[in-house]
Amino acid sequence: MLLQHERIWITGAQGQVGSAFARMLDTTELDVLLTDIDEVDITDMDAVRNYAEMYRPDCVINCAGICGPAFCEENSDLAYKVNAVGARNLSVAARSVHAELVQISTDDIFDGRASEPYNEFSTPMPVTVYGKSKLAGEEFVKTIAPKFLIIRSSWVYGDGENFVTQLLRRAETESCIRVPGDQLGAPTSADEVAKVIYRLLEKDAYGLYHAVCGGVCSRYEFARRILTLAGKNTEILKADNAGENGHPSYAVLDNLMLRLDDIELPVSWEEALRAYMNKMRR
Ligand SMILES: NC(=O)c1ccc[n+]([C@@H]2O[C@H](COP(=O)([O-])OP(=O)(O)OC[C@H]3O[C@@H](n4cnc5c(N)ncnc54)[C@H](OP(=O)(O)O)[C@@H]3O)[C@@H](O)[C@H]2O)c1
Repeated sequence: MLLQHERIWITGAQGQVGSAFARMLDTTELDVLLTDIDEVDITDMDAVRNYAEMYRPDCVINCAGICGPAFCEENSDLAYKVNAVGARNLSVAARSVHAELVQISTDDIFDGRASEPYNEFSTPMPVTVYGKSKLAGEEFVKTIAPKFLIIRSSWVYGDGENFVTQLLRRAETESCIRVPGDQLGAPTSADEVAKVIYRLLEKDAYGLYHAVCGGVCSRYEFARRILTLAGKNTEILKADNAGENGHPSYAVLDNLMLRLDDIELPVSWEEALRAYMNKMRR
């Protein structure tokens, strides 16, 4: 039970993480406000402030964002506007109504050159516009929101466009697909991210947390597992092109703070993927 909250506002509620978290909430216990860009554009300070003052949520979960690294490189101003200024606007609004703010962030705030998992005490050093704009968003949240949670995840897939759905679509028409074998990460389902958000709110935790599924794999291994689970025999070839799709080559996060605070960890990436694909089949 999220006893300490009565009214939760989820922005980006139609996205992968936003919709997964919304599904977890018991609306007989809580008022749940769901908005996406058509209802409240988070880059519009007045719209954000007016909405917050009208509905007075005591918790704001910011799941809105511009996530594609390549798109962000080409649309740098927009990336900063949504990922940084949007987070600032929500921080200001959260402050004005004394609400807690939960911000979802990413492994892309690191440079991807490490050889061991990044924990919450590792120094961010983003190299892409996406990573830089998300880090700027984190900074606004930390300095403006009265009480905050920042939850960083990686390689997220859920209801929407993502690596899994794109690969399955390609497998319909291509007999051989090349996927980077030198890009490492921990694929994490939006459901697992949503469960961590829930657990952290339940514990009244705050601060910075990494939240990724257990284990590590390459994009190539991830792709192979997806096609195996889907029963497809499309050939997958290992390509050496880390960084080509704009993601860091080493995107592995360590859930150190979850462990230190004895908070239940996300399941392994294989188990989360199996659950996701089973759900897809239904
Ligand atoms: N996807 C990943 O691999 C990943 C990994 C780590 C962290 N994250 C972070 O997790 C958060 C959620 O990611 P996700 O995968 O759920 O993304 P998503 O599926 O793309 O959802 C983001 C939602 O935000 C909406 N949005 C975009 N601009 C907005 C604006 N100005 N005002 C209000 N809403 C706006 C989008 O609407 P449109 O669809 O109409 O644009 C979309 O519904 C993001 O902050 C992202 O940086 C994602």
